[in-house]
Formats: sequence, structure tokens, C-alpha cells
Amino acid sequence: MLAATGHAVPKRAFTNADFASIGVETSDEWIRERTGIGQRYVAGDGENLTTICTEAARIALQRAGVTAAELDAIILGTASPDRLLPATAVEVQAALGATRAVAFDIDAACSGWLYGIQVAEGLMATGGYETILVIGGEVLSRIINWKDRNTCVLFGDGAGATVVKRSTKGRGVLSAYMRSDGTLADLLQRPKGAGSHPMDAQVLAEGSHFITMAGREVFKNAVRSMADAADRALDGAKLSASDIDLLIPHQANIRIIEATAKHAGIPMEKVYVNVDRFGNTSAASIPIALSEAQEQGLIKDGMHVMFVAFGAGFTWGSMVVRF
Ligand code: UT7
Repeated sequence: MLAATGHAVPKRAFTNADFASIGVETSDEWIRERTGIGQRYVAGDGENLTTICTEAARIALQRAGVTAAELDAIILGTASPDRLLPATAVEVQAALGATRAVAFDIDAACSGWLYGIQVAEGLMATGGYETILVIGGEVLSRIINWKDRNTCVLFGDGAGATVVKRSTKGRGVLSAYMRSDGTLADLLQRPKGAGSHPMDAQVLAEGSHFITMAGREVFKNAVRSMADAADRALDGAKLSASDIDLLIPHQANIRIIEATAKHAGIPMEKVYVNVDRFGNTSAASIPIALSEAQEQGLIKDGMHVMFVAFGAGFTWGSMVVRF
């Protein structure tokens, strides 16, 4: 059961117009037309993945009426950890004072939160865990190439945190689906700067430690995989599209969101969209959207919400949850 969700973003909003100030040749018109993005948040001095995730976590804990000391586990989905070692989840654990919790990261890129919820459900079913914090958080601004207009206009920073408890009274996860395909790993990656090619002067000079993406290929795969994931979610829950009260898809591109909704047979009035204000926040995008939807009172008890994610790996998946 997703007991409560909170979200946090850095202070600075970076608009499409702001790219002119850093010499990136693009336009508000191009970015909006191709992606639906109008602005994104960018971490500044004193802000990092740990601080943003901790802020989101505190809000979620407070909304759930749970203390940090009660947490059995903290699972952080991220592709932009504060350090390569150790996991950022342990830094969040320390910041929260979640002394009893086991804490670890999941690297499933944009599917990180969705994978995290499904891992949490598994721990509850088999490991005796009662209360788990699942966070999707990213500070992508630190791993994108701010000179590459193909990628730098797309991504944003932020975190969403969800307190997960055991399901009760027919509430909880009705269907869950996860997939990955490593044969397509090169299409969206950070090519160098880690184990297979450690950081050196050449990597720094060519910027190959930053994210690179074959945009069109990723787009096609995202549309195909999210459509498949939506079908699986409905089949698994034995529901039809008309039973879904709200679709919360990964927020990468408004065109991908619209294609997913169309394939699933869910009208756009029932689709939560905030890519215009946050950009693509990868693992954070779904929990930020869920947190906002709940703040706006869009999710009432008994409603069916469908989540669909897709990201680097490739990874993808879906869930239907009864609130
Ligand atoms: O989070 C999960 C993974 N990520 C995604 O799901 C993202 C998937 N991909 C996409 O959303 C889209 O492919 C993009 C938004 C990245 C690109 O849109 P597109 O319609 O596929 O454009 P394109 O890559 O085919 O580029 C079209 C043109 C190119 O110019 P030429 O070669 O046609 O002359 C690019 O150089 O647009 C140019 N371009 C830009 N122009 C202005 C690329 N980026 C920009 C830019 N501003 N920022």
C-alpha cells in the first residue's frame, strides 16, 4: 500500500529561455513542440541528491504519520548518485536518522521508483518488513553535458518519496510488471568515466562521462515498451481501461505520454502531466507526479491508478494500485 508520498525540487527553476544565457542554440518553441517541457529545476550550491531526497522523505513520513526510526528499509532509485561509492540511500538514512533501516540504491534509470516499489512489495511478502521508504531521486544536472542541446534541454532534478506499508482491505498493488533489455544499453548511457574506462584526461576532454542518447531510437522504444507495459498492467489487474481513474506515466516527453495513453485507451483528462514544469526527472518523475496528484485531491480512496515507466537499460514496467 502506498501510504503517502512527498516531493522536493531544488530552488532554482531554469526556463527554456535561460539556455540563451549559457550559449545553447535552442528555442522555447523547439523544446515545447518536441517535448512539452517549459522549465526544469537545477540543483545549486549546497543542494545534492541526499538533501533533495531527504526533504522529499521528510514530507512523505510526516504525511504517513511514520517516524524515521520506524523504517525497516530505504530503497532509492537513482542514476545520479552523490558518490559512486557508497549508495546515496545510506546518506539519506543517516540524514533522516533511520537507524533500523537497511538502505540501498537501485539503478534502473527512469524505472527506478517503480522497480523500488516492486522490490519493497517483495520484501514485505517474504522478509517480514513492515514499513519501507521508496524514493526516486535525481540530480541529472550534474551528469548532463550542458553544451549538448540534444540532451541538456530534456532533464531536470528532483525527488519523490513514498512510504510503503502492507496492503490492507483490498488496497495496494493489484498488478506489477518489470522488464529490461540490455542489448540496447548503448542507446542511452554514460559511455566512460567508470569501471570499463576510468576517468582520465581524454574522458574529461571529450565529455564522455556525461549522458549521451540516441533520441529517436529511445523515443521509438519508449512508445513501444510503455504500450506493452500498459497492456500488462491491465491484464495483470484484470481491469479494462475504463476502470483506470488516473494514469501516471513517466514524464519524459508529452508525445510519448500521449502515445501511451492513446494505446491504453485512457483519455488525456485522466492522465497526470507535469513534464512542462519539471522536465524529465528520470526516477523521480512518477513519484513527483503522484505527490502532486495527491496534493490536488485527484486520488480518492478506492481509485485505480496506473503507473508506467521506461528508461535507460532499457528498463520498463508498470503497476496498477488501488488506493
Ligand atoms: O527518460 C526516458 C528516456 N528518454 C526519452 O524517452 C527521450 C526520448 N526521445 C525524445 O524525447 C526525442 O527523440 C527528443 C526530444 C530527444 C528529440 O526529438 P526528435 O523529434 O526525435 O528530434 P530529432 O532528434 O530527430 O532532431 C531533430 C532536429 C535535429 O536537427 P536536424 O539534424 O534535423 O537538422 C537536431 O539537431 O532538431 C535538432 N535539435 C534541436 N534543435 C533545437 C536537437 N535538439 C535541439 C534543441 N534545440 N534542443
